[in-house]
Formats: sequence, structure tokens, C-alpha cells
Amino acid sequence: MKVGIIGCGRIAFEAHIPAYKKYNVEVVGVCDLIEDRAKKAAEELGISFYCMDARELAEYSEVELIDIATPPYGRRDLLKTLYKSNKPMLIQKPLSYDLDEAKEICKEIKNNKIIAAVNHNARWAPVSVKIKELLQEKELGEIYQIHHINRFNENLKSWYTDVNNYIFLDHGLHYFDLIRLFSDKTPIQVSAISRNVPGQLAKCELLYTVNFKFDNLLVVSLYFNNLVPAPYAFDCQWFIDGTKASIKATLDSISIQRFSGEDVPMTKVEGDWVPEGFLGAYEALVHAIKTKKIPPHSPEDHLETLKMAIAAAKSASSGGKWVDIN
Ligand SMILES: NC(=O)c1ccc[n+]([C@@H]2O[C@H](COP(=O)([O-])OP(=O)(O)OC[C@H]3O[C@@H](n4cnc5c(N)ncnc54)[C@H](O)[C@@H]3O)[C@@H](O)[C@H]2O)c1
Repeated sequence: MKVGIIGCGRIAFEAHIPAYKKYNVEVVGVCDLIEDRAKKAAEELGISFYCMDARELAEYSEVELIDIATPPYGRRDLLKTLYKSNKPMLIQKPLSYDLDEAKEICKEIKNNKIIAAVNHNARWAPVSVKIKELLQEKELGEIYQIHHINRFNENLKSWYTDVNNYIFLDHGLHYFDLIRLFSDKTPIQVSAISRNVPGQLAKCELLYTVNFKFDNLLVVSLYFNNLVPAPYAFDCQWFIDGTKASIKATLDSISIQRFSGEDVPMTKVEGDWVPEGFLGAYEALVHAIKTKKIPPHSPEDHLETLKMAIAAAKSASSGGKWVDIN
């Protein structure tokens, strides 16, 4: 389906545009409030249609699917101007930093009969896809523990690091979402702690530890240090333990250790969040439209992940008390 992009900022240039270019998805128009950005995106894509008014982009007859890469603030009002076009939408996560507002957005999308999905691209990163396949094939038996370690660096001044609880509500949202993907469940309670580091540039907390409780034996813990010296100290590791085997995975590799001894050593997995994860989120929406099914990353599904993040932020503000996820 032919795409029109609204919002030509950081993520559009780093991920949306490279993914569409690499995999020959036709982008027919772009829009940004700032003319230079829209013009630059059009040049990058080799197209002529660019504009500064989102409604104009949505109503452009060539556009079949609207890809929204604007920040969460102002998003509800922006969406309201687009519903009249009746075109499907792929919306960047999170829908909102506020759960009530996100619920209202979901209702409005439904009332306007719009087919929409939220860009949970990490689900389609090739390593995530491989882990999910192994879990579906019951390679691990019953899963009893998931542990995630993330080490990155966003110690900077920006609109997003100015957001209170950014580490839970925006960046960490990906890892919470993968917990739902891997476990096929939404946890019932969370206990979280977040911290600033003395002298940091970012306004938001850059460290978290999070524990999720489920209604079965599964135990989940996540650690995030978003201020390690870059880039040599970056890391992303998953440990998933089941009654038959364990998985260890990074962003681009996976190994399996079996009690039977038939191990699979660390093996490289081709592809990454960008561009493959972004292409996957787009393709899953197109597939849902063509097969008339609800997209797996529907706004309602996104709410389940957002609830985990909002509850984690609430727990952190109470010093780590267990908080219900609902
Ligand atoms: N999925 C991921 O991996 C991932 C990674 C980073 C950011 N994001 C998300 O992507 C979104 C955008 O983040 P970003 O860092 O690219 O922001 P950004 O500020 O760099 O870019 C956003 C662009 O949208 C434009 N814009 C805002 N409102 C607009 C409107 N009404 N009409 C047209 N243009 C408008 C701005 O002018 C800006 O150029 C956020 O929701 C963020 O959380 C997702």
C-alpha cells in the first residue's frame, strides 16, 4: 500500500524512510510542520509531494496508508483531523503518555471505523521473531523466568528526555511489550524503581529495575542503564528459561541450551529493529487490512502494554511498591 508520512523528524529519517526505501515500499507524500524537514524527506525519497498540513497529506488521493511519526503530545488533536480521510493509520508509540487520553484515542479510532496499528516495531525485529517461533514450537517447555538487561545511552537534552518517566513510557515500553509477546500474557502487578545519576544531562530518570508478577509461575525482571559510556558498553540481553531449555539472545544473535545437551551455540540472526522491525510493523498492518483481521498491534492491544508502563511509573513514584496493572 502506498504510504504518506506525517512527521519528518528523528525516527522518520533514522527508521521509517530507510525501511521503506530498502524494501521498496512506495512513499508518495510526506508532511511536517517545518517545511525544510518535509522538503528534505521528499528529496531523500525522490518524490515531489510534500506539505505542512497533515490534512492535506491525508486527503492526497495517492496516499493509501498514513504513517504517523510525530511525538505523542498533540497526537490526539492531529488524529482528529485525519479521521475524515477514512485511511488506515500506523501510529508511532506510545499513543499518549496519559492512559486516559490513550483510551479516548482508542475510542475515537473505533468510532470513526479507522483501521489502525501502533508501531511496536521491536516485535518484528528478527531476533524477537526467532524467539517467538521457538516459544510457539514449545522448544523451552513451560517458561518460568524472563530476564532482560539493557545498556544504552540517552543522556542528552531533548523533548523526549524531558518527559517524566520517559524510561518506562517510551523507550522501556518496547521491552515491556516484548514481555507480553514472549509470555502471551499481561502481568498482574509490577514493582519498579527508577533513578537519576548525579550530573546527568537528561531530565528524566535513566536507570530502572522492574519486576512483573503474573498469575502463574512466571517471574520477570528487567534492568535498564540508559547512561553507559557509548558505544562500546551498549548491550541488550534476553535470558528466557523454560522447563526444557533456556534461550540467551542479544539484538542480533541467539543460543539455546537444552537439558538434553543438544545445545545451539550463539548464532547470528540477520536483520535488526531498523529497518526489518519497521518493515514488519507496516507489513503486519497491510496483511491485517487485506485479510480483514484486527492487526496484532491494534490500539487496544497497545493499551495493554501502556498499562504496564503506567503502572511501573506509578510504582517507581512510590519507591517500588507492588502496583496492580489494570
Ligand atoms: N519505535 C521506535 O523505535 C521509536 C524510536 C524513537 C522514537 N519513536 C517515537 O516516534 C515519535 C516521533 O519521535 P521523534 O524523535 O522522531 O520526534 P521528532 O521531534 O524528532 O520528530 C517529529 C516530527 O514531527 C513533526 N510534527 C509534529 N507535529 C506535527 C503535525 N501536527 N503535523 C506534521 N508534522 C508534525 C515535527 O515538526 C517533527 O519534525 C514519538 O512518538 C517517539 O516516541 C519511536
